[in-house]
Amino acid sequence: MTLLKDIEFAAYQGTNHLAKQLSYTLDRRLNKPSQVSLLITDICAARCTMCDMWKLQENNELSIDEWKGVLDRLREWLGPFFLVISGGEPFQKRGFFDFLAHCREIGIKTKVSTNGMYLTPKACERVLEVGPDFLSFSIDHHAREVHDRIRGVPLYDRCLEAIDFLKAHDESVVLGIASVIMEETARDLVATAEWALDEVGVDRVLFQPLYPTFATDEGLDPGWFDRNPHWPRDTAALRAEIERLRAMKRAGRPVWNPDEHLVALQHYFEDPASHPRPDECMVRYSTYNIDPRGDVMFCWTVDDRVGNLRHEHPRAIWESALAQQVRDKMKGCKAPCLLNCYRGRSLREQVGLFKLFAERQGFG
Ligand SMILES: C[S@@+](CC[C@H](N)C(=O)[O-])C[C@H]1O[C@@H](n2cnc3c(N)ncnc32)[C@H](O)[C@@H]1O
Ligand code: SF4
Ligand code: SF4
Repeated sequence: MTLLKDIEFAAYQGTNHLAKQLSYTLDRRLNKPSQVSLLITDICAARCTMCDMWKLQENNELSIDEWKGVLDRLREWLGPFFLVISGGEPFQKRGFFDFLAHCREIGIKTKVSTNGMYLTPKACERVLEVGPDFLSFSIDHHAREVHDRIRGVPLYDRCLEAIDFLKAHDESVVLGIASVIMEETARDLVATAEWALDEVGVDRVLFQPLYPTFATDEGLDPGWFDRNPHWPRDTAALRAEIERLRAMKRAGRPVWNPDEHLVALQHYFEDPASHPRPDECMVRYSTYNIDPRGDVMFCWTVDDRVGNLRHEHPRAIWESALAQQVRDKMKGCKAPCLLNCYRGRSLREQVGLFKLFAERQGFG
């Protein structure tokens, strides 16, 4: 049964991938989105120094009951898809475990990014019951004092306790550590990756480049990186460190960034305003981003809303004339977007991810 579902999923992803390439060539939508991302809440109780989301107030967010209706409609339209959930801090959303349980019930695979703050042993028990299927802890450096200084509150020990708990009780949740490349972490990317894989024992590591402080308009300043205290200054050393990370990946270690992304990151840190993109931007045909109020957009930066899930069917939004107008407007955008959430996953990555889930959990 699992094998059949595996084949069904791979066939669907393959067909949709071809349709996406054709959409891009013809510049007309022929496919469904291949990446659905949800910021489930704005709120967060951390005090990170490179992200101001913790300063936001809860504002007109959908309730979990409203989200359940949206999930049903997405599932009916897309089949068994993969939902990437972030925030704010997702585990601070009231009723979040009910949301995850609903995803599991109707066959949506989930990945959640977390700062770990709310993952007490009791909360971890709920994770084991209802998911997510993939839990990514944001830990920026292998040293406690470096990570906790960046995050403004002590989160390191809570993250490690949660990972230990989950590993000790069940092997089915795929665990990852995601780190931001910045001045405080740039010299130790390999050390952090080895620590995460060998000492902490997670399945995957992922690196994210520093971007303008989230939830601010710092990015409007073309020279923002010169003024941002987290921007890595020694770019030659960073290039060499990323080279070592590439070697680690070639040696078969599970560094989750594709190799071409790592190469693009080397250029980005040398020339953040105009580095060469690794590929043309396809978000307008690959990505379905949803904010806490149910607004849908293709790209968090261009931020042109194409509809709202409180009032409209997800498919109607994707196929609307307004969506095509926004796509036409975005075409040719050459912004240096290297955040992982801006990269459409390749077919190989998508199938690799689902194979991983199939091995761990099956598709049942
Ligand atoms: C905004 S957070 C939301 C999820 C959760 N609160 C967390 O920290 O994992 C999503 C990811 O963005 C990363 N991040 C925060 N500020 C960033 C910045 N200025 N540039 C790049 N990544 C950043 C975080 O470390 C985290 O891995
Ligand atoms: S990075 Fe995550 S934990 Fe830190 S303030 Fe932003 S949303 Fe909160
Ligand atoms: S800002 Fe980046 S992700 Fe958005 S359309 Fe432009 S290149 Fe694509």
